[in-house]
Amino acid sequence: MSHLSSSVTGHLRSPNTAPVDAPEVTVPADHVLVMKVIPMPADSNANGDIFGGWVMAQVDLAGAVLPARYAQGRMATIAVNQFIFKQPVRVGDILSFYAKMERIGRTSMTVNVGVYAERFNNQGRYIKVTEAQLTYVAIDDQGKPRPVPLKHL
Ligand SMILES: CC(C)(COP(=O)(O)OP(=O)(O)OC[C@H]1O[C@@H](n2cnc3c(N)ncnc32)[C@H](O)[C@@H]1OP(=O)(O)O)[C@@H](O)C(=O)NCCC(=O)NCCS
Repeated sequence: MSHLSSSVTGHLRSPNTAPVDAPEVTVPADHVLVMKVIPMPADSNANGDIFGGWVMAQVDLAGAVLPARYAQGRMATIAVNQFIFKQPVRVGDILSFYAKMERIGRTSMTVNVGVYAERFNNQGRYIKVTEAQLTYVAIDDQGKPRPVPLKHL
C-alpha cells in the first residue's frame, strides 16, 4: 500500500512511539519562527510516521511567510531546491518552522526552512527533523513574474 493511500484511508498501525536517536539542538537564533503545527493520525503513513508529502506541504506554507512580506501580493513556488528529511516526524510532535531569507532576486525570493520537533512527552526539547530551501516568484494578475517591490524591510 502506498504512503498516500494509507494516509487517506486511516491508520494501519499505531503511531510510532519508538525512541529516535537524534541529538537535542537549540533552535536557530538567525531564523524567524513562522509556523507551528501538530500532525494528527490522519497525516501518517503505513509506518506509523508522518507522510513526507504532508511535511512538504507544511514547509511550502511556512516558507511562503517571509517572502510574502517582500512580494506584497501574489506569488508562486517555482522550486524546491533542497529537501532533507533528517528524522521521522511523529503523530503528536509539536513542529516549529523556522525560516530565513537567503536571497532576493529581481522576481524571485529564496528561503531556508528548518523544522524542529518537540516529541510527545518530551516537550521543550527540540530535534531537527527537516531542512529545506525553496524559491518563490512574485507574480502579477496574469500569473507572470513581476519585480519584487521590497528589497529590504
Ligand atoms: C512562477 C512562474 C510564473 C515563473 O515564470 P517563468 O517564466 O518560469 O520565470 P522566469 O524564467 O522568468 O524566472 C523567474 C524567476 O525565477 C527564477 N527561477 C527560474 N527557475 C528556477 C529554478 N529552477 N530554481 C530557482 N529559481 C528559478 C529565475 O532565476 C527568476 O528569478 P529572478 O527574476 O530573481 O532572477 C511559472 O514558472 C509558473 O507559473 N510556475 C508554476 C508555479 C506553481 O504553480 N507553483 C505551485 C506548484 S504546485
